[in-house]
Amino acid sequence: MQKETSREPNRKMNQHYDVVILGAGAAGMMAAIESGKRGRRTLLLEHGERVGRKILISGGGRCNFTNTNVTADNYLSENPHFSRSALARYTPRDFIALVQKHNIAFHEKTLGQLFCDGSAQQIVVMLEAECIAANVETRTSTAVESVSATNAEPHRFLVHTSSGDIAANSVIVATGGLSIPKMGATGIGYDIARAFQHRIVEPRPALVPLIFSANDKSLWCDLSGLSAEVIATPAATTKRRNAKPIAFREKLLITHRGISGPAALQISSYWKPGASLHVDLAPKVEVFTSLLNASSGRHWNAAYAALRIALPARLAERWIELHAQQGPGDWTNNGIAALEADLHTWTIAPAGTEGFEKAEVTAGGVATDELDARTLESKLTPGLFFIGEIVDVTGWLGGYNFQWAWASAVAAGTTA
Ligand code: FDA
Repeated sequence: MQKETSREPNRKMNQHYDVVILGAGAAGMMAAIESGKRGRRTLLLEHGERVGRKILISGGGRCNFTNTNVTADNYLSENPHFSRSALARYTPRDFIALVQKHNIAFHEKTLGQLFCDGSAQQIVVMLEAECIAANVETRTSTAVESVSATNAEPHRFLVHTSSGDIAANSVIVATGGLSIPKMGATGIGYDIARAFQHRIVEPRPALVPLIFSANDKSLWCDLSGLSAEVIATPAATTKRRNAKPIAFREKLLITHRGISGPAALQISSYWKPGASLHVDLAPKVEVFTSLLNASSGRHWNAAYAALRIALPARLAERWIELHAQQGPGDWTNNGIAALEADLHTWTIAPAGTEGFEKAEVTAGGVATDELDARTLESKLTPGLFFIGEIVDVTGWLGGYNFQWAWASAVAAGTTA
C-alpha cells in the first residue's frame, strides 16, 4: 500500500466523499451515474476543461457507442474470460435503452456498429444529464496527482489533486490509456495502480496504423489513398483451444507510410514488434486459377484483367508488375497456383506503428488477475477500482471499447 508521499504540510483537505472517480471519460461518467443513483456522495474529477472529450471525437464525430454483437471474444486481454462477467451484466441492449430514453436517434452502420444519427455530442449531453440527475458533483480543470491510503475510517483514501486533497471511502480510477495525449491522456492511472502494488501489462498502441518496412514503403506507398476489401490475419498466433481464428474482413488502405483502414487497425492490436501479418487481397475469389482452364489466356494481360475484379486498377497493376519479374514465365499449372497463393497471403512485416499519437486505444494496462471480474475492485486494496481502457481489456474496432467502458463502469459504480 502506498505511504503518503512528501506533500506540502499545509495543503488543504477540502472535502469528504463516499466515492471519488478519477477521469470524466466514458467509463468515469458512467460509473459516477451508477454510484450517484445509489445515493453515494459522488465526486467526478477531470483535468481537462470539459468532460467526455474522446466521446466527442469518436466514430468520426457520430460516436459508435456500442456493438450489438459484443462477446468476450471481441476483446484482447491476458485473461480472455475476464470481461465476460461485466459484459453480461450490462449489455448493448441496456445502453441502447439509455440512448432511447434520451430520444437520441441512431443507426446500424455495419457489422452491428451503432452510431448516432446526429452527433457524438448527444452522448456527452446524455451522460451529463444523467450525472446531474444522480446528484454527481463534477469538477473539471482538476488534475489528479496521486492517491494514498489512510487509516482514517470511514475514508480509506486521500486523492491528491491540483486543487487540494479529497478524502474518499472508495476510489474508481477511470483515467484511460495513453492514446492521443493531446486529448488529455496521461499515465497517472498506471502510476496509481503501481503505487498500490498492481502489475501492469506493458501498455502498447492498438487500433493504430502500421508502418511499412523501408522496402515495402518504396514498393507501395506511392499508391497511398487506394483501398481494397481484404482479410487480415496475424501471420502466427498461439491459438487457444476452441478459440475462433483471428481474421478481419474489412477495408485496407495504403497510406504514405504504411497501411491503415479498419482491417489494418484491427490486426494492429494483435501485432507485436518483429511479427508479420498476412493479407488476403482477394477474399474468397480464385483469381488466377481461372487461367488454368483457358490456355489461350495464360499471359500477364489476362492475369491483370482477372485481378482487376478484386483490386483497384493501380494496385492490380503494381501487384502484376512485382510478380511479373519472378512470376511463372512458363505459365505452368504450378506457377499459376503459386501466384494465386501469393495473392491470398501477402506477407507484411511492419517496421512499427504510428504510436500512441495515432492509436485509438491502448492495449495492456492494469492486469486482470488482481481485479475482481464482477466488480472491477482491486483484490489487493478494498475500495479501489479500475475501469475502462486502463484495464488490460481492449476491444476490437466497432463500438466494443465503449461497451467495455460502460459495462466495467456499471460493475464498479454499483459496488463502490
Ligand atoms: P478516456 O480516455 O475516455 O477518459 C479518461 C479521462 O481521464 C479523460 O477525460 C482524461 O482527460 C482524464 N484524465 C487523465 N489523466 C487525468 C488526471 N491526471 N487527472 C484528471 N483526469 C485525468 N471506441 C468505440 O467504442 N467507438 C468509437 O467510435 C471510438 N472512436 C474513437 C475515436 C478516436 C479518435 C479515439 C482516440 C478513440 C475512439 N474509441 C472508440 C475508443 C474510446 O474512445 C475509448 O476506448 C474510451 O474513451 C475509453 O474510455 P475511458 O473512460 O476508459 O478513458
